[in-house]
Amino acid sequence: MSMVLKNFRIVDETSDFSGSVVVRDGNISGVYRGETPAAEKELERAALEAETVINGRGLVLMPAFVDLHAHFREAGDAGTAFQKTPLAETVESASLAAAAGGYGTVVCMANTFPVTDTVKRALAFKRRADALALIDVFPVISLTKGMEGKELSDIAALDHPAVLMASEDGKDIGGAIFAEALVRARHAGIPVSCHCDLGGEDAATERVLELARRTGARVHIAHVSTGRAAGLVREAKQAGLPVSCEVTPHHLALNDRDAALLGAENFGRVNPPLRSEENRLAVNAALFDGTIDAVATDHAPHTKEDKLAGAPGFSGLETAFAVCRGLLSASGESLSGLSALMSASPARILGLDGTRGAARGKIAPGFRADLCAADPEREWLVEGEALLSRGKNSPFAGRTLRGAVVLTIHAGRIVFDSSKKLVYNGLARQSGC
Ligand code: DOR
Repeated sequence: MSMVLKNFRIVDETSDFSGSVVVRDGNISGVYRGETPAAEKELERAALEAETVINGRGLVLMPAFVDLHAHFREAGDAGTAFQKTPLAETVESASLAAAAGGYGTVVCMANTFPVTDTVKRALAFKRRADALALIDVFPVISLTKGMEGKELSDIAALDHPAVLMASEDGKDIGGAIFAEALVRARHAGIPVSCHCDLGGEDAATERVLELARRTGARVHIAHVSTGRAAGLVREAKQAGLPVSCEVTPHHLALNDRDAALLGAENFGRVNPPLRSEENRLAVNAALFDGTIDAVATDHAPHTKEDKLAGAPGFSGLETAFAVCRGLLSASGESLSGLSALMSASPARILGLDGTRGAARGKIAPGFRADLCAADPEREWLVEGEALLSRGKNSPFAGRTLRGAVVLTIHAGRIVFDSSKKLVYNGLARQSGC
């Protein structure tokens, strides 16, 4: 199976040039700069044997995005009594949404129904996602059984090659059990995503960083939303702690006034909450100075009924690229900088730069052909009901965003094509989403 992607603007964390890419057997086999006679000849040869040749004039080709933080609600056990009805999301609808958003790899938090707290459950979840062949899902293992904060989860799970991160999600725990979980994660060599909700973000971040210093564990601070928390991470990095952190598109783009307009107690409600303009600006300032390692969606789908009742969270997979691309115009930063935050850097945090699974996050020979073609200038209106996610609550609904994902390629196969308005393997039509 081979594919030639010709005449694209090729962007990754270190490159931005006009050129072409050849894909063979799911991996990038060649990257050609410009239109030199030698490159043209090589591309002609590759095109002759390729199943698919795509001419990308005007489009940007980037590594597919890697999301460190999403909620898929379901896990491996579809149809159990644990599920809520109606379903806020399914593995299928979330995978479709991810593919449409340009994502190739998504880390899913453990607050699924039921909680992902054993290897068995994590693998069942992964198998369901793998069967769709749309994106790669890496389930997070909760730190404690059932996320009840009492007993540690399956220790063996932390050592499993398919488990790349552990987290208690928004139910941050404290005390000895948290310290023990951190030590176990350190032995397994995986980071612990800390949501820092307990007792307020700034105090919780301070406490978690102190525990990281004491235990030597790699901690990853989820959805940083205050200037103070960003400052604490910056200082911890300067002191040499193995800490990383993420920020969400909604905390970068919106503030508490937007939350009030959306409905602070329902449709504008999210954890952590949308902050003051001062905090929003501080987090934006930290985005490109080395403090923030990744943009993560915190895709948190809910039914309309649950949102009306105050459930926190926004659907974010399908709007993340456009929201962040919009911020670049104001900051003067480059698409390469954004690509680093959405692909290469989160891949490195997970060990998906070749250390653990197939290398992804860059456009270079030997890397997996997880790619996203986007039109950085195309404007589109966000309509909640048009989202592929079952969670229709986007805080950007009704806004026009600039930057559209046009094509998503996963392991060398096209899984999303916006011009066809469906995801290629036919699943979109049966999914009911
Ligand atoms: O608003 C949120 N909702 N933030 C989180 O971190 C969790 C999420 C959820 O699961 O709904």
